[in-house]
Amino acid sequence: MLRIVWLTDVHLNFVEVEDRSAFFASVCQESPDAVLLTGDIAEGPDIVSHLRAMAREISAPIYFVLGNHDFYRDSIVEVRRRMSRLCEETPSLVYLTAEEVVPLTPSIGLIGHDGWADARLGDYERSLVMMHDNHLIKELIGYNKQQRWDVLKRLGDQAAAHIRRVLPLALERFPEVLLATHVPPLREACWHEGRISDNQWAPHFTCKAIGDAILDIMQSHPDQRLTVYCGHTHGQGRCQPLENVEIFTGGAQYGEPAIVSTFTIA
Ligand SMILES: [Fe+2]
Ligand SMILES: [Fe+2]
Repeated sequence: MLRIVWLTDVHLNFVEVEDRSAFFASVCQESPDAVLLTGDIAEGPDIVSHLRAMAREISAPIYFVLGNHDFYRDSIVEVRRRMSRLCEETPSLVYLTAEEVVPLTPSIGLIGHDGWADARLGDYERSLVMMHDNHLIKELIGYNKQQRWDVLKRLGDQAAAHIRRVLPLALERFPEVLLATHVPPLREACWHEGRISDNQWAPHFTCKAIGDAILDIMQSHPDQRLTVYCGHTHGQGRCQPLENVEIFTGGAQYGEPAIVSTFTIA
């Protein structure tokens, strides 16, 4: 049995150091064997220091992916590179985007990728939503809306390519797989303020490329199970697109990091 504490969208850059420590202490009180953290941890310039503090104050291994905010005021390539260096020097931190399959129990493997909102669901062209990503992340700066669409799709495809590679590897070894990602992979998982996101928000709140990968792969493994954990929309919800696939979206509030849930796996 493993006890897992799931956190998402903790946005620690909006939290005072004492409140951050109190939050970490509340995680420790759950006596986790592992922490699962599905992105939007902080912002580019300070994410390393927040993750170091987390690893210092929580003794369990921390399996994480990054969210769009984690690249703010920075670059995707650079921050991802920094994560690999950080995890080398801090073995209890595991950046799933840079890993293949992490064995959790003899029957459960863990995989993950940051994902990216790839603007393929909803109505990107008519959407009036302007994400801060567009002026705060190096790879998205300097494009008009049409040009940026290609960049978003490319980032989604890159994320899906990882899942298409590692999910089959995980299914070869384990009957059950957990997948951590930041962006909800399906429209049905895209909870926002108690409802499924509308056409304005869906382009910025879903990674269709990963959703397609999950459905394709799991349809051909009907006797195995996949459970997905994601965040990004800050709206809590659950959906089950296939008999063998369940997706949990974690709720969150800026400035008030909280445990989404504690669960056990065997
Ligand atoms: Fe967030
Ligand atoms: Fe996000």
